[in-house]
Amino acid sequence: MKKETGAEPKFTTKTSPKAEPALNELFMDGIMDIFWAENHLVKNLPKMIESATSDKLKNAITDHLAQTKTHVTRLEQVFEMLGEKVLAKKCDAMEGLTKEGEGIVESTEAGTATRDVGIILASQKVEHYEIATYGGLTQLAKTLGHHDVAELLYQTLTEEKAADQLLTDVAESDVNYKASEEA
Ligand SMILES: [Fe+2]
Repeated sequence: MKKETGAEPKFTTKTSPKAEPALNELFMDGIMDIFWAENHLVKNLPKMIESATSDKLKNAITDHLAQTKTHVTRLEQVFEMLGEKVLAKKCDAMEGLTKEGEGIVESTEAGTATRDVGIILASQKVEHYEIATYGGLTQLAKTLGHHDVAELLYQTLTEEKAADQLLTDVAESDVNYKASEEA
């Protein structure tokens, strides 16, 4: 392995966003991307609630819809704190993940626990995408010296993790067993 020869560390933590315009641009791109994704979920989650059968699952997604609206508001705050315009940039990944969820609903029978299992699988993929995004953006906000923004992103990250855990609980305690008993 090649040894670092310079006296300067390879990576340093910037304290001003102006110090690293390219990195700041990458960060803003990420914020606009997840802003689109959260808004897309606000539109998409009601279909999932309607398609689900288990009350526990319906409640879990209903709660997450309310949280998702909070996530949108928090991102609007982030734009404001950074003195940037509120802009959404289409997130192809989230579009793909929600299409996959709709595909599962179409390919399963209404009123079955099997469909519920499919909805949980699709929803957990969404949660994991959001966890990855908020985890990365929280870290980047810190690197760029936006500590107040990092705090907000971290709050959302915590809620996404809790939502993911709740879906696991619903699968374990309710839906998966029922689905395994279905003919
Ligand atoms: Fe969210």
